[in-house]
Amino acid sequence: MARLALVTGGTRGIGEAICLALKDAGFAVVANYVGSEERAKAFTEQSGIPAYKWNVADHQACHDAVARIEAAHGPIEVLVNNAGITRDATMLKMTFEMWREVIEVNLGGCFNMAKAVYPGMRERKWGRIVNIGSINGQAGQIGQVNYAAAKAGIHGFTKALAQEGARFGVTVNAVAPGYIDTDMVAAVPPEVLEKIVARIPAGRLGQAHEIARGVVFLCGEDAGFITGSTLSINGGQHMY
Ligand code: CAA
Repeated sequence: MARLALVTGGTRGIGEAICLALKDAGFAVVANYVGSEERAKAFTEQSGIPAYKWNVADHQACHDAVARIEAAHGPIEVLVNNAGITRDATMLKMTFEMWREVIEVNLGGCFNMAKAVYPGMRERKWGRIVNIGSINGQAGQIGQVNYAAAKAGIHGFTKALAQEGARFGVTVNAVAPGYIDTDMVAAVPPEVLEKIVARIPAGRLGQAHEIARGVVFLCGEDAGFITGSTLSINGGQHMY
């Protein structure tokens, strides 16, 4: 039977591409979303992938959703922690609320979801957790002390849980995208984005499917010895 993968923030952008690529690779896939109902409906209609709504920042909601999904579809064997938001502002303008929201969704969401699925993976002696980090968690970025801290936290979280899970067949890795052609990057002011793209050796933004490619690789049966690693996919912008 196909292994079941859950992708948070899975109905658009990088998450959508990951869902489609995992499905193509033979996984059964379930997506999570929190925002646009309409977008999620269209995603499910087009892909045949069910989408469940909850906020990954809500610890109890994550537990409840995982219980509901496992009752309906079987054990979650692959978790892709992709859900993420930006609330960009330079330090002088960043509010505590902008800090809190980004930390709770981007980093708290990883803990909440892993906490819900990891015990089952450990017991079954097989699991794949892939956390979506960021070039900006590796290198920092003007206007993103919140996002960079959350993403750097994801990289530490990955390495710590990887050490815990290794004996039990549970691998935990990160993929660190650079600037990818998604709604999130489209929200960067055009004159700023121009400066950023000028610093990408590949000379262009990445495409969501180029991130999905790396995620699928880390979820494979034959990727069992790869754990605690970070796969940077950024067109050469930052080598870490
Ligand atoms: N690279 C180079 N220059 C940058 C920059 C960047 N990332 N961010 C800001 N600057 C420059 C601006 O161009 C501007 O330069 P000039 O004074 O020469 O015109 C200067 O810094 C001040 O910036 P702003 O005038 O824009 O200041 P602001 O207060 O109006 O806005 C900001 C600040 C919110 C940080 C805005 O500049 C911004 O949104 N920057 C982009 C931040 C960013 O890269 N976010 C990534 C989002 S995508 C993502 O996060 C996905 C991922 O994982 C990669």
